[in-house]
Amino acid sequence: MTSRIVGTGHCVPETVITNDDLSKIVDTNDEWISSRTGIKSRRIVKEENTSYMAYMAAKQALDNANILPEDIDLIIVATSTPDTIFPNTACCVQGLLNNKKAVCFDLNAACSGFIYALNVAHSHIVAKMAKKALVIGSECMSKVINWKDRGTCVLFGDGAGAVVIEESKEGFIHTVVGSDGSKGEAIICDGHSNSYFEGEKEKKHPFTEMNGQEVFRFAVKKVPESIGQLLEKSNTLIEEIDWYILHQANERIISSVSKRLGVPMEKFPINLEQYGNTSAASVPILLDEMNRNGMLKKGDKIVISGFGAGLTWGTSLLIW
Ligand code: COA
Repeated sequence: MTSRIVGTGHCVPETVITNDDLSKIVDTNDEWISSRTGIKSRRIVKEENTSYMAYMAAKQALDNANILPEDIDLIIVATSTPDTIFPNTACCVQGLLNNKKAVCFDLNAACSGFIYALNVAHSHIVAKMAKKALVIGSECMSKVINWKDRGTCVLFGDGAGAVVIEESKEGFIHTVVGSDGSKGEAIICDGHSNSYFEGEKEKKHPFTEMNGQEVFRFAVKKVPESIGQLLEKSNTLIEEIDWYILHQANERIISSVSKRLGVPMEKFPINLEQYGNTSAASVPILLDEMNRNGMLKKGDKIVISGFGAGLTWGTSLLIW
């Protein structure tokens, strides 16, 4: 027995910010951003927020699965940018869905969060602790970015993606997840305010700070390595895989993974040119777009992979 994805959805903010728009805020240009990252524009929240986008994506996923909100008994939201520390985002989604029975919690593994959350939800289903789960990645990265730092502000965007999973004979095959806390400083954001008793301590990293080259090297090594481990553990050949749906951080990272694996780029769908890096939301947004475009066929073998702050990584193999 395993679990499988039975519905997908996504929601992105209305406001589009292009590379040219950013060049009016910081010293950058479309040529630099496009050639180094592949990103052309991103969606940024104005009226929307993390829980609203999570709810909208969840509603779509439930409709797509033809499942009623009240039938969900587990909601996990992968996010590092919740609207409130408490209540957690998953509880906010539960309230908006008017669901009364789900267990709800958030999970923070940065850009790997969606894969971590799917793995936890899958484990709940296999352990018979849940029957139908909503797994959502939702982020407002725009709120933790220094919009004066051209090294980071051009990379990120906001959005949410969601899936519904339920018990099934076929679906998730295997997952490899890992973390390396010794490299935590490679992407860091403090985010919290000081207590009265600490006095006026200056925040070291009030916004997202990143050693871009270190993160780049980590990603192009760790992602192919985890895919290799996954295929070996599940006795699957690399050419059996129909799609490699990778976290949408940078087109050069994706093309480097494709080269290292010796797999053509056609098997690596990309939508980061429109959305930038939406952290935990990027994999489920892309999955939903592919599902709605009819690109995913029953029986397709799909690898999904996330990597990011922590440092963390996670890669799953599933049958559609
Ligand atoms: N526009 C124009 N110039 C910029 C710029 C921008 N937005 N950002 C940086 N630069 C400049 C730098 O100041 C530097 O100038 P200098 O040579 O005069 O010092 C030059 O461009 C090169 O900067 P560098 O940081 O070495 O570029 P890079 O080739 O490493 O590319 C990243 C930077 C961020 C695109 C790249 O390192 C990367 O993609 N890393 C992975 C990041 C990531 O995906 N993080 C999230 C993972 S979840």
